[in-house]
Amino acid sequence: MELGAAEFDRWYADRTDSPVADELVRRVLGLPPGLQSTSLLTGAGLDEVVAELALREGQVLLDLACGRGGYGLEIARRTGVRVVGVDFSAVALEQAHRRARELGLADRAGFRVGELTGTGLGPASVDAVLVVDSLQFAEPKPAALRECRRVLRPGGRVVVTCWEALDPADERLPRRMREMDLAAQLPSAGFVDVEVTDKPVWRAAEQTLWQQALAADAGDDPGMRSMQEEARRLLPSFDGMRRVLATATAPR
Ligand SMILES: C[S@@+](CC[C@H](N)C(=O)[O-])C[C@H]1O[C@@H](n2cnc3c(N)ncnc32)[C@H](O)[C@@H]1O
Repeated sequence: MELGAAEFDRWYADRTDSPVADELVRRVLGLPPGLQSTSLLTGAGLDEVVAELALREGQVLLDLACGRGGYGLEIARRTGVRVVGVDFSAVALEQAHRRARELGLADRAGFRVGELTGTGLGPASVDAVLVVDSLQFAEPKPAALRECRRVLRPGGRVVVTCWEALDPADERLPRRMREMDLAAQLPSAGFVDVEVTDKPVWRAAEQTLWQQALAADAGDDPGMRSMQEEARRLLPSFDGMRRVLATATAPR
């Protein structure tokens, strides 16, 4: 199924009114207090991501497909960088703006509507790009990676967290997951120093999250119901996917 901006707007509207879902995600993934995630990157995973981004105070980070901006804002808080968040969901970006103000980071955080394949940013305008659990939605994937390369200054880092199919012919998995092949796609987009690592511990945390979401009483909480639907859809083919961290550098 193609997931457009309208579907994500609805998804984010459901999550706005769901502190219960946010708390479950925060507890199971071990996220820092106040980080609003709509993905599956753990708190320990974020520490690894920050190390891989190799950012210095005053630099610019693009959080691509940023959603509510949680990870980018946390990185801005920790490292002193300026964050630019791009997403095609206007509802998510409204929540990201609000969160930046609440955290006192509005002067170092900007959010704009854009596509994975077309951010609207200038060439070589950012020092690093982060894409958390979103690259699978790009159509086509190589165009999104070329966009990351275009906006990165020479020597800048790209960090992608995602999933890949163990067997691209596994029809239990959505096409978007079966098309992921970062070890081949990052060099094709012109990146060097490409590394793609399996993350079994992240994967285990994700599985626990889906299981605990299913075991919870969702009542009429729309965010919890939506998580339960996702869990029912994902768990039967969970053994067919691996969780990956991909890192690469734009050539100098
Ligand atoms: C699983 S969420 C992850 C959000 C955020 N990175 C996080 O970790 O909390 C996927 C995000 O991708 C965005 N997205 C999906 N397709 C997109 C596209 N074609 N262009 C821009 N954003 C897109 C959605 O709106 C959503 O915010």
